[in-house]
Amino acid sequence: MKIGIVGAGSMGSGIAKVAAQCEHEVVLFDTNRVQLDKAESNLAKLMASMVEKGKISQETSTKTQGLIHYSSKMEDFGGCGLVIEAIIENLAVKKSVFEQLEGLVDESCLLASNTSSLSIASIAASCKKADRVLGIHFFNPAPLMPLVEIIPAVQTSLETVSRARTLIDSWKKVTVLTKDTPGFIVNRVARPFYGEALKIYEEGLADFATIDWAMTSLGGFKMGPFTLMDYIGNDINYTVTETVFTSFYFDPRYRPSFTQKRHSEAGWFGRKSGRGYYDYSEGAILPTPDQNEELGAMILRRILVMLINEAVDAVFLNIATAQEVDLAMTKGVNYPKGLLQWANELGLDIVLKELDELYHTYGDDRYRASVLLRKMVKNNQQFSL
Ligand SMILES: NC(=O)c1ccc[n+]([C@@H]2O[C@H](COP(=O)([O-])OP(=O)(O)OC[C@H]3O[C@@H](n4cnc5c(N)ncnc54)[C@H](O)[C@@H]3O)[C@@H](O)[C@H]2O)c1
Repeated sequence: MKIGIVGAGSMGSGIAKVAAQCEHEVVLFDTNRVQLDKAESNLAKLMASMVEKGKISQETSTKTQGLIHYSSKMEDFGGCGLVIEAIIENLAVKKSVFEQLEGLVDESCLLASNTSSLSIASIAASCKKADRVLGIHFFNPAPLMPLVEIIPAVQTSLETVSRARTLIDSWKKVTVLTKDTPGFIVNRVARPFYGEALKIYEEGLADFATIDWAMTSLGGFKMGPFTLMDYIGNDINYTVTETVFTSFYFDPRYRPSFTQKRHSEAGWFGRKSGRGYYDYSEGAILPTPDQNEELGAMILRRILVMLINEAVDAVFLNIATAQEVDLAMTKGVNYPKGLLQWANELGLDIVLKELDELYHTYGDDRYRASVLLRKMVKNNQQFSL
């Protein structure tokens, strides 16, 4: 099947590589020729290094690269069985692309968006045949991260979901089905990893390096929240937080932070701008964490119970099943353990007690425990995973 990709940025070019490695002919389209050339040369460099390291043969490298056609003509999408859009995160622009796409592809072609936070129903509404539109959300970098969230809109047909899922499963990805709600699974459940870390910093309880140390050394996370925000980019991470907050009708659980806003306004985006929460200039000395075990344990526990509460609430609201929520967080953002498994191990009653303590201390709805957590503790239940 021929696959079309709109947008040759980080995500589009990564998805193109995944599809070509699975022997699909791929049309990678972008309005910006420079981006297309960059995507082509980046892939050539990446594949050459894989050949050098003995990970793939020269033959595979040549074949994969040969399957991707870099195009600045949308008409080349004719004959595609699936087109995945991965352009800038702007609803109006995405809607106009879908409207154009519909006039160029066959009746049976599936149309998908890789959006991180926009409503799939809104995007689908720009098409006459909205039942063939869905969200197919890859994680960055697409060739390395196994998870793909499959998101039907209210308009999407069961057949579309089944065809899309079968295809993405055949690309050796781990697919999870999720509801068309802000942030889907991963970008919703992960919010406290950033938000609660920022709040702990703002209260003056610990600095960036200490919070990062607690989450990595004591929690087993691959990156601490501030290192990760600097890696993602504070501009992008802040915008996602603000979008999720607005989309949830200003629920205080998702309230953005002034610290991140100011870093973003200052142009301190993180690695890409040379400065974020940390200084990435040459010779810069990284701050040393205060490796106080008691402080570290408090930081880890506070962020963890907030993450678990989000995960439990996602199950409560049928965003996904308990198994899928755990799979999503381990395969999409590399969490050391599924959050619901973690909850079982810690004891659901302990998690609830911590949340209730935070709620009473702060008097803030941000810390309200999920109804499901309360019910499960009352009934002495655990998650069956
Ligand atoms: N970067 C991530 O970590 C990540 C992860 C998952 C999903 N996403 C989502 O994937 C999408 C793309 O993100 P990205 O990080 O690859 O962005 P990017 O900025 O790296 O790339 C976007 C590309 O789209 C092109 N483009 C813009 N308007 C276009 C149009 N009308 N037609 C064709 N091409 C157009 C740009 O020239 C650019 O090459 C966004 O919706 C984003 O939310 C991003």
